[in-house]
Amino acid sequence: MKKRIIQTETAYSSTPDNIDIEPRRPEFDFSDVSKYWLRDPFTSHFMNALSIVVPHSERTVIDIVRKYADSISDPKLVRDMDALIRQEGRHTLMHLRCNDLLKKCGYPALRLFERFQKFFVGILRRISPPAWELAMPASFEHFTSAISREFIVNQDFWAGDQSNVAIDFTNWHALEELEHQAVCFDVFAALEKRTWLLTLSLLFIWMPATLVSVYGIQLYLLLKDGILLKRKNWGPYLKFIFQSLPMLTRGAFKYVDKGYRPWSQKDVQVYQAHKRQIQNIIS
Ligand SMILES: [Fe+2]
Ligand SMILES: [Fe+2]
Repeated sequence: MKKRIIQTETAYSSTPDNIDIEPRRPEFDFSDVSKYWLRDPFTSHFMNALSIVVPHSERTVIDIVRKYADSISDPKLVRDMDALIRQEGRHTLMHLRCNDLLKKCGYPALRLFERFQKFFVGILRRISPPAWELAMPASFEHFTSAISREFIVNQDFWAGDQSNVAIDFTNWHALEELEHQAVCFDVFAALEKRTWLLTLSLLFIWMPATLVSVYGIQLYLLLKDGILLKRKNWGPYLKFIFQSLPMLTRGAFKYVDKGYRPWSQKDVQVYQAHKRQIQNIIS
């Protein structure tokens, strides 16, 4: 296929200079973590569902960022891309460990979900022109940064009074997702002027796909556990869906603004406060 992507004059890293994308290698032992490791079964199985889709999504991010690395000339963005690849490689490994333990709790359909995700993403990559392929990592990172920000800022909603290794792990992952939140967008913006394509990609492909897959897997887990077979749980379940939905549906139109950059002043404050708070986990 003829390469239609052109390099623009505005190709640069928009990650603030005071943010260092640092590949860390903390260890986590999940063997004593229960499947309900957050506030309740709804929050726990939402994050468990997310964990199922994370490894293949992050591998796709790594693969596409590597594929276009030679087209990027800004040395800082090249360094950011390398750091992102290292961070995502570590996240994937840890999520695979969590997912193996979750599967041992007896959810045979999870393997089918994983296979379907590989098939779906594989087909899309085969038929996508470069701009749409580059929109994939930028779209995935759109969700991971939104979810990370939400998890960090509303920790009480998610974790309640729980404290365990899986929460530490999620706090570390959330920190690094915020840290590298601009990288895939910067790569996209460096190679494709039409950032509004990200809006289309999110609205017509990745938002529907994410909603169906994450809420679908969560629904399966809750049904398999019998949680949703009890009528008294329907209200809290619907309330959770209503409360969590904005996190996955907000923000698609910001890419229409040509001057859009992922980091805001508020993000820097949230990131720095969170980094101080989890210093014992990441050091
Ligand atoms: Fe990640
Ligand atoms: Fe990421």
